[in-house]
Amino acid sequence: MKIAVMGYGTVGSGVVEVIEAHSDSIPAKIGGESLEVSRILDLRDFPDDPHKDLFTKDFNDILNDDEIKIVAETMGGVNPAFDFTMKLLKAGKSVVTSNKELVAQKGPELLKTAEDNGVNYLIEASVGGGIPIIRPLTQCLAANNIEGIAGILNGTTNFILTMMIEQGMSFDDALKLAQENGYAEKDPTADVEGHDACRKVCILASLAFGKHVYPSQVETQGITDITLEDVEYVNSANGVIKLLGQIKYINKDKIAAFVSPAVVYNGSQLSSVKDVFNAVLVRGDAVGDVCFYGAGAGKLPTASAVVADIIDCAKHANRKKIFGWGEGSEDYVVDYKSTIEMPFYVRAKADKDSVSKVFGDVKYLSRANQSDDELAFITASMTENDLNEKLKGIEVMNTIKVTNY
Ligand code: HSE
Repeated sequence: MKIAVMGYGTVGSGVVEVIEAHSDSIPAKIGGESLEVSRILDLRDFPDDPHKDLFTKDFNDILNDDEIKIVAETMGGVNPAFDFTMKLLKAGKSVVTSNKELVAQKGPELLKTAEDNGVNYLIEASVGGGIPIIRPLTQCLAANNIEGIAGILNGTTNFILTMMIEQGMSFDDALKLAQENGYAEKDPTADVEGHDACRKVCILASLAFGKHVYPSQVETQGITDITLEDVEYVNSANGVIKLLGQIKYINKDKIAAFVSPAVVYNGSQLSSVKDVFNAVLVRGDAVGDVCFYGAGAGKLPTASAVVADIIDCAKHANRKKIFGWGEGSEDYVVDYKSTIEMPFYVRAKADKDSVSKVFGDVKYLSRANQSDDELAFITASMTENDLNEKLKGIEVMNTIKVTNY
């Protein structure tokens, strides 16, 4: 069976490598046929690549080739990936993708087009790299009402925070290393400012609750304000700082969803997720907490999920898989700052008297070489709006949410 790959970057080249490395075992999984990569679309030249005869810069070479039935879109970005994917689906080709930005922005339209044309649009690689999460959430956990989801969804930021926590490495050095390892997005702003995690939150929320969530509905904060001082204080409370995507069910018409740094206490399964690893903790009313863990970025782990989707499409060549979700709505995602209560970590230039006057009892934290006028503490549970109200008049250096996952 002929397939094509669009985008020969870290993931796309991994897809070709995984298909070739498993050419002996894949046919048995798809009814005897082998998978043949017959075209690779990329605007760059790869003169020394062993697949150089397969490259094309013209998308029409894939669109108009009737023998190509499945296309892996590993280009990233919304355009031209959206235009290409729509044309391929309308032409009766199934598409699999690792492109979380595209799914988060245009998921409903793409899924409907796949549905209308009797083909598949599969997205396992769009969240958590190689971690199986899309199928488990939609199939294995289908009997549950999902109460909430918390995930470490970005490998680059988890790698950076791990380097800061365990090696005292500077943010910039850790980011450089993540880029060298091929974890970071082309523009690492998407990683460090939380946009990549936000896209994955949108996909998980859409899957878990059946209505699309757009990135603009998810309040997002990255890790650029986290300092080594914060890391030390949180360590003294037996916790670690993680970039978490959190989704909470409120009622059948409302959810909360946000991305931010969060204090995770040791003992939580999420606290031990280090380096480039991701984890998604799903809280279901019947199953309780289940946690999915694995490599959240990188060439072969992400390719593993893309190729699994290709195999699934090949197995279901004449059958549409039931998969997808509906359109979202403007007021579907609530303002979590006025609704969700949680404790907060606060670092401030203040004295204990003024803190207790406003907050009552708090848990104070400590670090080596703490200056006399600096305090760090954990508050009782409250909304973020209430926190900000109480902090008026205090010289705040940082605040971080404390999670209950
Ligand atoms: N830049 C992303 C990350 C790649 O670091 O997790 C995988 O989506």
